[in-house]
Amino acid sequence: MLKLSSTGRGGGYSKKRGLVESTLAAMYRADWPARAWGLTRRSCAVREIHFGVSGREPGRPPLTLGFVSDLHIGPTTPAAVLDAAFDALAAAEVDVLVLGGDYVFLEASPAKAARLRSLVERARGRLATIAVLGNHDLWTDHRVLEHALWAAGAEVAINATVRLAPPHDDVAFVCLDDPWTGAPDAERALAGAAGATFRVGVCHSPDALPLMQRAGAHLFVCGHTHGGQIATPWGPIVVPGRVGKRYPSGRHTAFATHLFVSRGVGATELPMRAWARPDVALITIS
Ligand SMILES: [Fe+2]
Repeated sequence: MLKLSSTGRGGGYSKKRGLVESTLAAMYRADWPARAWGLTRRSCAVREIHFGVSGREPGRPPLTLGFVSDLHIGPTTPAAVLDAAFDALAAAEVDVLVLGGDYVFLEASPAKAARLRSLVERARGRLATIAVLGNHDLWTDHRVLEHALWAAGAEVAINATVRLAPPHDDVAFVCLDDPWTGAPDAERALAGAAGATFRVGVCHSPDALPLMQRAGAHLFVCGHTHGGQIATPWGPIVVPGRVGKRYPSGRHTAFATHLFVSRGVGATELPMRAWARPDVALITIS
């Protein structure tokens, strides 16, 4: 089936992209690329990135976060790599699970939505599970994905702030819509952050960094770049987005904001990664 425009609320879906994705959807029938990639065990290994960020009020107990992004359930992501990522998150038993968007590659089918639900259910946060949407989610029927996330117990936060009960009521998760294909509105999101002395920014893309800095985010977690997906030992070749080019993956300090850009888990377009190992982050905020 030829798809030449976005079937969700997301903009920025060009005819060229439509032609490429329609061709790939026909070529990748029955998910054979994901199955082939899944045969190489090494490519399915997921790196756990552990780090801590301080700055909370004295006397507050530490809060643990799990962050995972860019699952890209579909024909270019092996089932084993998704299982490995969510097994690692489940084993960590985090307080808050944060999902960075791009849950699918190509259309959001009921089967992909069911898979998303079962993965998230496996690793739900003890206190909360928070999700934003990515460009690939907004180019398809994102409502199917939102329903799967809700059914799994996640809060889908678009231009909204999520707060926790005491003793973690000093922390606010400021969640923005995707800057490329959606409509981020920091002012609206911040309405719920009053009184929070530690702000965690959550958005699919690092391009929200200027908005997060203005929102006073102490920590900003995002994905989208895939670390270039197919990179070289010297660095990535192509990275999307202006901020992503500067910070293609990993941890950075940008003025007062601690930035973490995940390489994500799955793949788009080509069923492979090189020098861009899938990752999940396990973060302690104290
Ligand atoms: Fe992605």
